[in-house]
Amino acid sequence: MENSFTDRMTQDLVLIEEYLKNAFVAEPRCADLQEAMEYSLLAGGKRIRPILTLETCRLCGGDVQAALPFACAAEMVHTYSLIHDDLPAMDDDELRRGRPTNHVVYGEATAILAGDALLTAAFDQLTRADLPAGRIVEAVKCLSHAAGSAGMVGGQALDMAGEGRGLEREELELLQSLKTGALISAAAELGCIAAGGTEEQRAQVRTYAQALGRAFQIRDDMLDVTSSQEELGKPVGSDRINEKSTFVTSLGLDGCAVQVELLTRQGIDALSSFDNPSFHTWLARWLAGRNR
Ligand code: IPE
Ligand code: IPE
Ligand code: MG
Ligand code: MG
Ligand code: MG
Repeated sequence: MENSFTDRMTQDLVLIEEYLKNAFVAEPRCADLQEAMEYSLLAGGKRIRPILTLETCRLCGGDVQAALPFACAAEMVHTYSLIHDDLPAMDDDELRRGRPTNHVVYGEATAILAGDALLTAAFDQLTRADLPAGRIVEAVKCLSHAAGSAGMVGGQALDMAGEGRGLEREELELLQSLKTGALISAAAELGCIAAGGTEEQRAQVRTYAQALGRAFQIRDDMLDVTSSQEELGKPVGSDRINEKSTFVTSLGLDGCAVQVELLTRQGIDALSSFDNPSFHTWLARWLAGRNR
């Protein structure tokens, strides 16, 4: 069983990598902009968000191929967020996905522009899906909301404003659900939208992915303390150096582990009325125990 899920994930990854590889090849090369975009976009990464899009499309009875542009749009927004997150003005990190960060290689101006262009390209991708126009409009609504000031960027603003001060648990939960949860949830919802799922299905998918997103950020905070640079492909100890208020500083490592387990179970329960949510169950468990 375990093997069939990893096989399925591998098949999804093949589709995603192939699509991303070709996304910008037809564009005129503008100085080193496209190279910088591809440097970060094609550097691996777990591809959790696009996998969630494809698999949620399948879960809701849709065609995985048709959901590919939506899936890759979510990954483009995510990659842009990482490039900007690593900038000197933000977390000032020098390693990402096992490579020197974008600004270290291409300079800050190009890194900022590569992020800008990936964000914009994501919305271009949404319009390219071979799906009814109503679903595309819904996808634009979903992704723009999740990426912007009421979503990921809002969460990053709270994260930056929280440096050097201990955040209350509630503030921390809001920060986490915006900076990480919103995009993970949107990625899953895009799959439901692509499939033409019902509002009820979408609400269940959202509950699942929001819980998963929260668990994901807690695990990320834990790994910043417990893992190694070799395993993670990004620096450890970055949160401590930047005096971030994280779940580790708030709950301690044991408290974090309890929360990850709780949220994972909540997420899995939210899909109980689907016919076959077994991949999503497996993915939630896999993410809870991840080491990178
Ligand atoms: C890292 O995301 C940033 C967070 C939102 C915690 P991922 O852990 O999904 O990073 P990649 O895509 O695998 O590099
Ligand atoms: C950033 O959170 C989440 C984003 C929106 C990019 P972190 O700053 O903890 O992510 P890492 O640890 O650098 O990947
Ligand atoms: Mg950050
Ligand atoms: Mg960071
Ligand atoms: Mg982190």
